[in-house]
Amino acid sequence: MKNLLQEIERLEKEYTSLIPSEAKRNEWLHKVNAFSSKFLSQTDTTSGYNSSKPNFTFTISDGPIDIEKILNEYEKNVSSLGIQAASAAHLGYIPGGGIYAAALGDYLAAITNEYAGMKFASPGAVAIENSVLDWLKELFHFPEDSVGNLTSGGSIANLIALTSARDHHNISGDKIQKSVIYVSQHVHHCNHKALRIIGLGDVIIRELKLDDNFRIETTELHNQIDHDLKMGLLPFMIIASAGTTDTGAVDPLEKIGRIAKEYQMWFHIDAAYGGFFYLVDAYKHLFRGIQMADSLVVDPHKGLFLPYGVGAVLIKHKNSVLQSHHYTANYMQDANQDHLDLNPADLSPELSKHFRGLRVWLPLQLHGIAVFKSCLEEKLLLTLYARQKLRELSYELGPAPDLSVTFFWHKKGDDFTRKLMQLIHDDGDVFLSSSNIGGRFVIRVAILAFRTKKATIDRMILMIKRCESALV
Ligand SMILES: Cc1ncc(COP(=O)(O)O)c(C=O)c1O
Repeated sequence: MKNLLQEIERLEKEYTSLIPSEAKRNEWLHKVNAFSSKFLSQTDTTSGYNSSKPNFTFTISDGPIDIEKILNEYEKNVSSLGIQAASAAHLGYIPGGGIYAAALGDYLAAITNEYAGMKFASPGAVAIENSVLDWLKELFHFPEDSVGNLTSGGSIANLIALTSARDHHNISGDKIQKSVIYVSQHVHHCNHKALRIIGLGDVIIRELKLDDNFRIETTELHNQIDHDLKMGLLPFMIIASAGTTDTGAVDPLEKIGRIAKEYQMWFHIDAAYGGFFYLVDAYKHLFRGIQMADSLVVDPHKGLFLPYGVGAVLIKHKNSVLQSHHYTANYMQDANQDHLDLNPADLSPELSKHFRGLRVWLPLQLHGIAVFKSCLEEKLLLTLYARQKLRELSYELGPAPDLSVTFFWHKKGDDFTRKLMQLIHDDGDVFLSSSNIGGRFVIRVAILAFRTKKATIDRMILMIKRCESALV
């Protein structure tokens, strides 16, 4: 017994630094804050892309390393490399955000370490998650009894939605190979990936022809469903996009919703990129019919400018979500006393989960929603401004965009545009990305980073001119 107590005492002394003193905490916080202030003071002017490779000198070892050294290393090998996702100059792919208030939400969530998967463990954390979901339900006109979940991002949110569609329509066994899903040729690849993960890799996927604005052609959709029914197949889901990644196109949601209803199919909308533009009054009409969806995905880490790590899914058919995600186990019996209340863990593959509700809720509380609307509207106008400027440089442009993604190419064709893209990446002042659209190599301009301003678009234009003149 004596040895046991001595040993406990010895070990307890050895890890005192795991529970730092107030002075130590303040020292670390002060240094992290100084780093953050320096970083944030540069986000308007820093280059969008740095192609250098990291060269870490630290290994993970038994002993501690001083925070100053760690922050230097972080600056050299992490925060200054790759795409500067927190900067004004990220105009590639679908830009993320990184508003400051969300970082404070994450900090508080980590300090108090709420267990956000179960109401029993943290009723307040779950209430905050639910209040964010209730706001989303209200915004998108989903009924009160629909369910939702805050996920790590759009991919997992789509996975939950597609799993519910599968279970609602009982797509299993022999039915799988006869079941048909209808999608845009430009649907985000995470939907295809989700289908494979949930055992629907062998369903028939009809990639629909798009109109001149890259939206689903509903006549083609209608005809294809009729054709498939005649063939004895089982059409069961249509996936529409409210903002495709390639061109920002919003599919005709209302028309698609009506078709889904006519054929009693599940209607899923992936609005991970475009959904929050619904907050902008002048653009609401584009989303007409969004409330008809059986399931809807939006990504706060895109359209609400939050740092990466939060998506959201809303689903109208509670039981279809529970079928895959609700579980009980003996060791959960204390937590499952309240049978009427759903836990986030009943609606998602996750049990323990990051209290990501707080990083959404806190910024919405601290700022209110009006500023988000203004910022989103300005991004839509900046897209029009960017197109004007590109036109003045005599670039060829894609069709007038629905939202904040547009694309251009050089008259000299694919080779020239491809070389230009390479020079733009080498230059790195503003980060753009390329795609293949309509059989052509194009350069995309995706405007969603909250720090992107008119001055950033002017920088982009100067960069394009600089790179083009190096080519001729
Ligand atoms: C339309 C769309 N859906 C889904 C996703 C995937 O979201 P995430 O990267 O958050 O998993 C994206 C990502 O850009 C997207 O643009």
